Amino acid sequence: MTETKNSNLSSDLRVPEHIAIIMDGNGRWAKRSGQPRIAGHKEGMNNVKRIATSASHMGVKVLSLYAFSTENWSRPSKEVNFLMRLPVDFFGTFMPDLIKENIKVLVTGFTEHLPDKTKKVVFKAMDDTKDNTGMVLNFAFNYGGRAEIVNAAKNLAKQAVDGSISPDDIDDKLFADQLLTSPLGSLADPDLLIRTSGEERISNFLLWQLAYSEMVFDKTYWPDFTADNLAEDIKIYNDRDRRFGAI
Ligand code: FPP
Repeated sequence: MTETKNSNLSSDLRVPEHIAIIMDGNGRWAKRSGQPRIAGHKEGMNNVKRIATSASHMGVKVLSLYAFSTENWSRPSKEVNFLMRLPVDFFGTFMPDLIKENIKVLVTGFTEHLPDKTKKVVFKAMDDTKDNTGMVLNFAFNYGGRAEIVNAAKNLAKQAVDGSISPDDIDDKLFADQLLTSPLGSLADPDLLIRTSGEERISNFLLWQLAYSEMVFDKTYWPDFTADNLAEDIKIYNDRDRRFGAI
């Protein structure tokens, strides 16, 4: 059991080692107050700062956040461009706190297809925090679960063709090693998935890694999601009985 270090959580709760969040509801949050959708994303980004800090204080080891999916490119270009600039704003303002909190940044996704400026800041953020030993803040950015699995299958097929592995060598471990989350090692699979805004689906997020995760669908829009909401969802997780297929 990870000891809790946060007043939002009662001390007898188990803190999930890896929490993944589908940060949904930015657009509806903005619409509710008559603002453009991008205002919701901006406040969503500010909330990443608050929740990352709270999760780190609670003792979470990996916080994975679905920030941009491979399907999000089909949104209007104004919105896509804004989302691509968010990492510039985020790391430009939050890096001192990330260093202070000993948080290590990881970006999981097809980063080679990002605009140059976005690519540059996310690689710099990973480099600037590479020696940090606290929570891993893992941004799924230009990430898609099916594309990740197809990519892993392609890599293994190439290795089988060039003779470096035999098809019979392929097992769960070898497959997981080819996934974009492999840098997370034994922590790659989330214990808890939270989706905010009341929607109840996975939307191509961590399809392989969520095989045995507990899921909590929280009605709060992401910009309104607080450390108290996180603590409440962790409490729901604690009331679940995880059996991993056993009885
Ligand atoms: C889904 O809400 C949210 C997104 C597609 C973007 C999420 C991004 C952030 C919260 C900021 C990420 C921060 C960094 C630093 C990259 P939606 O737009 O689908 O909301 P709706 O369903 O209410 O329309």
